[in-house]
Amino acid sequence: MGQKRQFKVWRGDETGGDLTDYEVEVNEGEVVLDIIHRLQATEAPDLACRWNCKAGKCGSCSMEINGMPRLGCMTRMSTFEETETVTVTPLRTFPVIRDLVTDVSFNYEKARETPAFAPPKDLAPGEYRMQQVDVERSQEFRKCIECFLCQNTCHVVRDHDENKKAFSGPRSFIRAAELDMHPLDAREDRKTYAQQHQGLGYCNITKCCTEVCPEHIKITDNAIIPMKERVVDRKYDPLVWLGSKIFRR
Ligand code: SF4
Ligand code: F3S
Ligand code: FES
Repeated sequence: MGQKRQFKVWRGDETGGDLTDYEVEVNEGEVVLDIIHRLQATEAPDLACRWNCKAGKCGSCSMEINGMPRLGCMTRMSTFEETETVTVTPLRTFPVIRDLVTDVSFNYEKARETPAFAPPKDLAPGEYRMQQVDVERSQEFRKCIECFLCQNTCHVVRDHDENKKAFSGPRSFIRAAELDMHPLDAREDRKTYAQQHQGLGYCNITKCCTEVCPEHIKITDNAIIPMKERVVDRKYDPLVWLGSKIFRR
């Protein structure tokens, strides 16, 4: 038999809402998503929540738990004091659809705006060759599960809808960095593109995005800072970019 614990869950839609109090049974080993499921199975069958894998891999169950952006399925109830009220609210940066479900299409729009990978025209499929060191460099960024916790956390757009048009956010920056480090990507100068079209200059390296990433991707140190530094380099030496592409092939 579990223990009764106190919860506050935000209920509402795009017209507004409020925190609702619940007392829910908690068992050993459970995570916050288990509690949401218990609520749905008992007193709140219409509570809306997005989830899929319950294994920290689909990126669907992003929510704010006691004000911290987290995955519901990876946040153990044992993280909290037994007497603590656990407050669950939707991601703040994106428009609410209902209860804990937000409209994250901003992130997909920004992804679509990023020019796709394009190998050199003279290279036929099957002729692509990459050094293992180049594979490994971008491997970290491929771990992204698109939970958008980083996008939700970044102060440039959190509470600043007006910046969303010009700022693509940390998830887009790791994609830009990944393509920039790809020796066969010939389409764009990704760093200049990130600076001119993705709002890289808005980032002032607070590292909040890195802190909340459930995949522990070093977004700021390994993607954003190298891109910013090399934009500065390039101002003095335009051959740096060209050389980095030619010699890595
Ligand atoms: Fe989530 Fe990390 Fe990907 Fe951002 S970079 S969307 S926090 S997995
Ligand atoms: Fe935002 Fe991350 Fe930069 S939180 S300000 S993108 S370091
Ligand atoms: Fe898939 Fe939480 S349900 S990451």
